Amino acid sequence: MTSVPPAADQKLNGDAPWDDFDPGVYISHNYLEMQAVDEEILSHVRDHFSDHFRGRVRVASGIDVGAGPNLYPALAMLPWCDRITLLERSARNLEYLRSQAPDYAPHWDQFWNVLCKDEAYATLGMAPRIRFKEAVQQPEAGSLFDLCADERRWDLGTMFFVAESITTSLAEFRRGVGCFMNALNSGAPFAAAFMEHSEGYRVGDHTFPARDIDESEVRAVLGGYADHVEIHRTANPKQLVRDGYTGMILACGQRKNRHDE
Ligand SMILES: C[S@@+](CC[C@H](N)C(=O)[O-])C[C@H]1O[C@@H](n2cnc3c(N)ncnc32)[C@H](O)[C@@H]1O
Repeated sequence: MTSVPPAADQKLNGDAPWDDFDPGVYISHNYLEMQAVDEEILSHVRDHFSDHFRGRVRVASGIDVGAGPNLYPALAMLPWCDRITLLERSARNLEYLRSQAPDYAPHWDQFWNVLCKDEAYATLGMAPRIRFKEAVQQPEAGSLFDLCADERRWDLGTMFFVAESITTSLAEFRRGVGCFMNALNSGAPFAAAFMEHSEGYRVGDHTFPARDIDESEVRAVLGGYADHVEIHRTANPKQLVRDGYTGMILACGQRKNRHDE
């Protein structure tokens, strides 16, 4: 059997210049001022975690995979787990995360304020910066794909704009989602966000690959690993002006019982 050669324009995860990803440019474009879409996504994630953990004790560990220069998924996990692993492949993004762990920048407060519309966040019992510093400690250098062979398991997880935004390959996208799911304990709640129909994106001087996926693909790939999956789709408000993607897809659910697989 001969293998099909990759399409000329295919860009695998290992082909992109992740160490040149510029966190300052990315933050200015996306997170310096909170966008309505992030507020909406964060509100759903907050409610999902809060509903799940109501009446339960805090779990030991959470993970944000491909954290990049975005702290809001980790902020959403703060009340619910003792420790949070921020896993990231890019050297510059790791440097950014390490700079934020002891005392994060003031613009992240607007995201925390959205979370505080839920009582569990508002009554955390200590300043979120102190809790963040205590929970995150050392961001971890590593790859999403290594989680497939990793024996560690986390009790709570997030992965925002990663599996579809690091490759043009459908097989790699699916493997990435599978590796994220492999990292979670049975019953662990999770939130995963995806760009819909992305054509790839620029950060500063560099172009990064994306796999064009839609809601049905997200449902299909998660279906093998997760229960009670709820999908929220938000259209890109600028989609009439061509902006390289059509919307964002948020999937909230619970890791299936691993023994049933
Ligand atoms: C589009 S950014 C998303 C960043 C952030 N999660 C957010 O919500 O904005 C994609 C991130 O995935 C990281 N990344 C790329 N390949 C990765 C891999 N194999 N394992 C883990 N992270 C990876 C990039 O460095 C970058 O931080």
